[in-house]
Amino acid sequence: MEKVRAIVYGIGAMGSGMVRLMLAKDWIEIVGGINRAHPELKDKSKVKVGKDLGEVAGVGRKIGVIVSDNPDDVLAKAKANLVLHATSSPLSEVEAQIINCVEAGCNVISIAEVRLAYPWVHNSESGQRIDEAAKKNGVTVLFTGINPGFMMDLVPIMFTGVCASVRKITLWRLLDISPYGSGVLNNLGVGLSVSEFEKGLADGSIGWILPLTCPQIDMISEAIGWKLDETKRIVKPITSNKPKKTSYGVEIGAGKVCGVKWSYFGIKGGEALITFDWIHMLHPKEEGLEPEDRCFIEGESDIDLVVKKLDSGVGTYAHAVNTIPQVMQAQPGLFTVRELPVAAALP
Ligand SMILES: NC(=O)c1ccc[n+]([C@@H]2O[C@H](COP(=O)([O-])OP(=O)(O)OC[C@H]3O[C@@H](n4cnc5c(N)ncnc54)[C@H](OP(=O)(O)O)[C@@H]3O)[C@@H](O)[C@H]2O)c1
Repeated sequence: MEKVRAIVYGIGAMGSGMVRLMLAKDWIEIVGGINRAHPELKDKSKVKVGKDLGEVAGVGRKIGVIVSDNPDDVLAKAKANLVLHATSSPLSEVEAQIINCVEAGCNVISIAEVRLAYPWVHNSESGQRIDEAAKKNGVTVLFTGINPGFMMDLVPIMFTGVCASVRKITLWRLLDISPYGSGVLNNLGVGLSVSEFEKGLADGSIGWILPLTCPQIDMISEAIGWKLDETKRIVKPITSNKPKKTSYGVEIGAGKVCGVKWSYFGIKGGEALITFDWIHMLHPKEEGLEPEDRCFIEGESDIDLVVKKLDSGVGTYAHAVNTIPQVMQAQPGLFTVRELPVAAALP
């Protein structure tokens, strides 16, 4: 594999984790950092653009790469062959950012858009445009992370591989969202009252990081050959019993929204064949709840897989970084995690 020359695009909580992890690998050189600028910021300690990437990402030392707000400039000058993409933007913006990187000749691993992790049932036009641009420019694009990209799509699919038959799949994930940045938490409506949350969800000002349809259900059902009639979504805000805050500066009062339960149902003949409960919660342990992932497959044979202690932040950026060799060696085009060899934690 050629030496990886990586740009990190979006230096928030996850982009910073990617920087720290990549610095420990001698087969990767970080050659660029991109983030949007905030000229209005009064608190200069929060400014990212113009500072050394090591400083912004919490490495504790300078690494000789200055964060820029000009993607075209960085893509033209850095001679990179990979972009790790972790902005927090709506679908159309993410698509434009990815195509810009692809047209500069860079492979891309993005964690930033749930829909594009499996766009082949819904959102296929966007997937098609990225796929065509990647093929035209001879590069590979992958959308991954911990979910989508692992826990509620790849893992259940792998476990159906040891079943003789499958009748139903029930997935349940309670995750602590405190490792994620303010872009994600604001988008989930954390800190709002319940009525502000309902209004924001209805007018689209929050919730756009989680779609109406469920790409993970699409990926699973196509993998096991189920033709579903429809997917239904139910969203319920969760309120906090006490004030909470995160290390990224998000603070909420008691009684405010501290998380969301997104339920999706993959339905055939009026029956939910795939049930998908995705519970995002700020510091669930403070409310006596342990983060946990559960995958229950009814079939021959039944499987009840329970995963505890997995840090959703580490899992997200580690899976993106650990997938770099697979992406660098893949054919050009837009891939999903199902089509690439499984990632492993290379030193
Ligand atoms: N697939 C998965 O498993 C998974 C898991 C976790 C998170 N995610 C996704 O990963 C993304 C990042 O999460 P996070 O926790 O790191 O969020 P975050 O802390 O809010 O970081 C996002 C970063 O991107 C920057 N940014 C946003 N829009 C930009 C733009 N148009 N141009 C340049 N920079 C831009 C933000 O800048 P400022 O904040 O400085 O303005 C911020 O530094 C989110 O989209 C989230 O939904 C995916």
